[in-house]
Amino acid sequence: MDLEAKTSSELGGRSFEDAVAAIQGVEGWLPLEQARLLYERAAALPPGGRVVEIGSHHGRSSIVLASAARDGVEIVAVDPFARPERPSLDRLAAADVGERDLQIFAANLDRAGVGHRIHHVRETSADALAHMPAPVDLLFIDGSHDFGPARSDIRDWVRVFG
Ligand SMILES: C[S@@+](CC[C@H](N)C(=O)[O-])C[C@H]1O[C@@H](n2cnc3c(N)ncnc32)[C@H](O)[C@@H]1O
Repeated sequence: MDLEAKTSSELGGRSFEDAVAAIQGVEGWLPLEQARLLYERAAALPPGGRVVEIGSHHGRSSIVLASAARDGVEIVAVDPFARPERPSLDRLAAADVGERDLQIFAANLDRAGVGHRIHHVRETSADALAHMPAPVDLLFIDGSHDFGPARSDIRDWVRVFG
C-alpha cells in the first residue's frame, strides 16, 4: 500500500493529529516520528488483523496503535508491570511502582477512549509468546531495553511470526 498517497483520515480510525493529542501528558519514550510510523502501519491493517505491542509503560504507543487501527483489528499489549530493578528501590517500593504503572496505564487508555480496544496481557514477552495466536500482522517490540532481553524478543518473536 502506498501510505504516502493516503491522508490520515483515509487510513484508519482517528486521525494522526487526534492520536498525538491523546498522548499529550502521557509519560513515556515514544517520539513523534515513531508514533507516526506506528500509526501508519496500524492504520493500514484490514479488519481481522492483529497488532502486538511488547512494552506499554503508561500507554503512549498503545494509544497511538488503538487510535489508528480500524474496528475489527485486535490490539494486544504485553507488559508484566513487574517490579523494576532499580537499586534505589527496596522490594516493596518496587512492587508498588509496578502496580502504580499499571493503574496509570489503564487510566490513560480510558481517558484516551481506547481502553476497550486493547487486550492487556500481564505477562513477560517470553510467557506471552507461548500462547499468542497467529497471525501477528504488526509487532512493536519495546519491552526491556537491556541487550539480552531485547535480542531475545527480536529473535524469538520474529522466529515464530516473522
Ligand atoms: C520503554 S517502556 C515502553 C514504552 C512504551 N512503548 C511507550 O510508548 O511509552 C518498556 C516497558 O517494557 C516493560 N517490560 C519490561 N520487561 C518486559 C518483558 N520481559 N516483557 C514485556 N514487557 C516488558 C516494562 O514494564 C515497561 O513498561
